[in-house]
Amino acid sequence: MTFSKHPEWLDHAVFYEIYPQSFCDTNADGIGDFEGIIRKLDYVRELGCNALWLNPCFASPFRDAGYDVSDYYTAAPRYGTNEDLKRLFAEAHARGMHVFLDLVPGHTSTDHPWFRESCKGTPNKYTDRYVWSDSVWEKLPDANALVGIAERTGACMVNFFSHQPALNYGFYKCEKPWQQPMDAPGPQATVAEMKRVMDFWLSMGCDGFRVDMAGSLVKNDPERKGTIALWQGIRRWLDETHPDAALVSEWGDPSQSLAGGFHMDFLLHFGPSHYNDLFRCEEPYFSTRGKGEIKPFMEHYLKYREAAGMDGLIAFPSGNHDMSRLSRDLTRDEVALAFAFILTMPGVPFIYYGDEIGMRYVENLLSVEGGYERTGSRSPMQWDGSANAGFSAAPPEKLYIPQDPAADRPTVAAQMADPASLWHEVQTLIRLRQAHPALDNTGRFEVLQADGYPLVFRRSAYNERITVAVNPSSEAFRLAVRGTILHATGKGAAVKGGMLELQPATVALVLES
Ligand code: NOJ
Repeated sequence: MTFSKHPEWLDHAVFYEIYPQSFCDTNADGIGDFEGIIRKLDYVRELGCNALWLNPCFASPFRDAGYDVSDYYTAAPRYGTNEDLKRLFAEAHARGMHVFLDLVPGHTSTDHPWFRESCKGTPNKYTDRYVWSDSVWEKLPDANALVGIAERTGACMVNFFSHQPALNYGFYKCEKPWQQPMDAPGPQATVAEMKRVMDFWLSMGCDGFRVDMAGSLVKNDPERKGTIALWQGIRRWLDETHPDAALVSEWGDPSQSLAGGFHMDFLLHFGPSHYNDLFRCEEPYFSTRGKGEIKPFMEHYLKYREAAGMDGLIAFPSGNHDMSRLSRDLTRDEVALAFAFILTMPGVPFIYYGDEIGMRYVENLLSVEGGYERTGSRSPMQWDGSANAGFSAAPPEKLYIPQDPAADRPTVAAQMADPASLWHEVQTLIRLRQAHPALDNTGRFEVLQADGYPLVFRRSAYNERITVAVNPSSEAFRLAVRGTILHATGKGAAVKGGMLELQPATVALVLES
């Protein structure tokens, strides 16, 4: 299946993920809002990012931070109105930025009017909008279910938490009388509605979507063949109706997601990618202890690249709202090395808000809105040294999530004022990526060495060749490379007589001659 080439803007995109609750509060209610995001667009642009992903900001009871939608067509009032969101799109575009919303196609909140209708005992338009069995007594195969809550006879499958009933996209293999094929009217109506949702926001100025749990829509589909076919249909429609829009999947297997027509797929902290080996495990590769592993990651990554082909992109996140913060397992200097790696790899980098200043995971917090242990990665942004770190004028006890209580918590203001800060390092790396075609999202990639330390790879485009040597360990290395040092993050590097002298805890970029 071939699709249109990905939109040109993706070649140069560096995304910034904003968790709207925690970014900037302009009405002193303790929770972030659209106006706050608009006011900080110049900040994001100055860092170098030219695209945004906003976590779900639709009407919701917020039992899973907005991943439990109760109205796909209305912005959550706590963030503002649809008009405010439209203005956000326009303000971003005026700055040369693109904006992704978070599409949650797999499930809604139990509060969604579709679900309430679907629960009714008399047939109606929404009877088949969700996956229902025909008995309340029989357990659903391989699934959690809502049972005994509806007038109708049956159990409703849930996708994630038990307040998130699964929308009905049909079954790839139907094994019970109540399981509907993908082309049945119920599943077809669900797909049509999701396209309407996408069209609604794209027509308002949104540039695409991060798609939640994209690989799990069709049930009883172990090889995801049904789900792939479903997304192929959506991508064909998108190419015809919104050719400049793009989709990134939370799927974690580009051989499936990109075949389904996604433009990019995330490396995830679960699944087979070995992404956690790099940053989030007992001995991360980026620790100076030098006990980490790169080989399993690189083997998987190369397979992913092969699956992605010429046009598919792998999205490389510094973190996200579901993972612990980079700085939980790495020191400030190690985080800088991790960024030097993420920002020199091909594909599309995603920076999670606050990672650019090394915001910490806040330990021992009570769960907020279904966050559980994810809550510590979702604390309000630390802008400056004023009250609530400049996030909000509300009393501290009203903040959405308590902030990092440490006296030395990092702030944007302090780091922007300090040329040696992590913030400046991240900005420099993004600028280098944007100034050198070899480092661009689609520049070529060749692994020169990926077993232990250091990791060495080459990026190239046109006549430019850049060798990137990644050495988080505390050992120095010498490598044969001809050229000049473009940049070094960490302790330093020099090229003398065709040899790169790579200091411990350093990532060096060598412009080859
Ligand atoms: C993945 C999202 O990233 C996560 O935050 C959410 O809880 C689940 N999907 C359910 O939608």
